[in-house]
Amino acid sequence: MTDGQLTIILKRDWFLFREGIMKILKTIDSTNEYIKRNYEVLNDGYIVRARTQTSGKGRNGRQFYSPDDSGLYMSVLIKTINKSHAEFSAYMAVAVTEVLREFYNTKSSIKWVNDIFIDGKKLGGILCESSYMNAKLQYMIVGLGINIYRSDYPIEIIDKTTYLSKYTDNEIDINVLAEKIVAKFYYYINHENPLEYLNAYRKSSCVLFEDIIVESGNNSFEARATAIDDLGQLVVVDKNGNVHSLSCGEVHVKLVDSGDRSERHEIDNNGNANCNSCHML
Ligand code: BTN
Repeated sequence: MTDGQLTIILKRDWFLFREGIMKILKTIDSTNEYIKRNYEVLNDGYIVRARTQTSGKGRNGRQFYSPDDSGLYMSVLIKTINKSHAEFSAYMAVAVTEVLREFYNTKSSIKWVNDIFIDGKKLGGILCESSYMNAKLQYMIVGLGINIYRSDYPIEIIDKTTYLSKYTDNEIDINVLAEKIVAKFYYYINHENPLEYLNAYRKSSCVLFEDIIVESGNNSFEARATAIDDLGQLVVVDKNGNVHSLSCGEVHVKLVDSGDRSERHEIDNNGNANCNSCHML
């Protein structure tokens, strides 16, 4: 089967063709980098997973710790670019939280922009990269990392990091997890209602309706997150009542309250919220 055939099958019925749809590498520097080096010969929808990454990358130049067989480290190549960078990243984040809830009975949440949190700790994240040639967008890579099993995390992240097996009794087959996430990811890419993912995103957000600190470069200010608008921007109101619409870029948010969040609200389809699972950076 060629990569092209695989892509078509993948979009039609992922589950019929479990074998061979995803390239699995034993070890690689970074699955995103692997795609960058090979993108010319790879087809749209190509997926690569590695059992370990020696130089796994996070956003903003950070490292993504990727020990042997302890996590899902995967990248998807997108050549048919009919959505924005922010949308592809958000589809992936929503896909992860939905799959964890539906198949692993685990409640996770999205910390704006696209970090996956459980219990106030980071479970994983998404690194979406775009490549341009002569100012024309050529392709995107959506990279996902999820910690699955406990490992010897570096000292600087040990208190802020968690792993999936701590929260679920269900068996975790990393390939099956990857398949389910990719299937959901394509569900949102191909969805007729382009805004459906936003409602799912709002429901999973652990920032919405919370007091936060917005950090941008050397500036920071306190604000209340009041909405995620239809462009995926986080709308916040500062202490002077000024409204700011934040798009991802270099903006970071931190939750102000690290206390007991058992009384947090559920976010329903109308945009009203709960987050017991995410309380501090
Ligand atoms: C973040 O948390 O800042 C994003 C982490 C993204 C990690 C994944 S693992 C697979 C892919 N390859 C990489 O080098 N990074 C992404």
